[in-house]
Amino acid sequence: MSNYAILISGRGSNMQALIDARLPGRCAAVISNRPDAAGLAWAAQRGVPTAVVDHKGFASREAFDTALARAIEQSGAELIFLAGFMRVLTEPFVQRYTGRLVNIHPSLLPAFPGLHTHEAALQSGVRVHGCTVHFVTPTLDCGPIIVQAAVPVLPGDSAAALAARVLAQEHIIYPQAARGILEGRCRLKAGRVVWAGDATPATLALRVPARE
Ligand code: GRF
Repeated sequence: MSNYAILISGRGSNMQALIDARLPGRCAAVISNRPDAAGLAWAAQRGVPTAVVDHKGFASREAFDTALARAIEQSGAELIFLAGFMRVLTEPFVQRYTGRLVNIHPSLLPAFPGLHTHEAALQSGVRVHGCTVHFVTPTLDCGPIIVQAAVPVLPGDSAAALAARVLAQEHIIYPQAARGILEGRCRLKAGRVVWAGDATPATLALRVPARE
């Protein structure tokens, strides 16, 4: 797999981290479901092909996902990285891209699936929070885990401060996971993530950042 697409809905800082990482593959397209996504201009400026599939133009999730799949096919991408893509994908779409559809989620899954993860982490009182790169399965935020990074929850943290600490780790682990997949060192096998060779989970599956 050497051509990949990145799907965004907004700012696109994870998209930037993936593109800046000079991964061993070609970013065939950045596709947004929102025409006003800030990340589109950033990608276009760097010569990356961009496309918009505006979900508002479709009567159903199925129709939107069909158009999205068509845009992905047209780009030639075989692998898809969701990077702040704020649409729930239908089961047929997810099944079509089994093992080729990857997401980053701002929590240590399986804790805090869904939205507002940093608020939920603060509310729950956890001392450790983080982010997860995982293969996408039909159940939201539930797929096999590729890499995680942990950060401390500090006294007096606001959701914004915690989000920023987590985001810095997202920008490290997403390119790391993407590189593993593109180089064929990381893949999905029987519903579990397998890292090949010396790229063992001891070095790749969990990052713990240095003391802040
Ligand atoms: C990130 O926190 C990501 O984990 C979540 O949405 C946010 C997107 O940020 N899925 P960005 O658009 O990549 O800057």
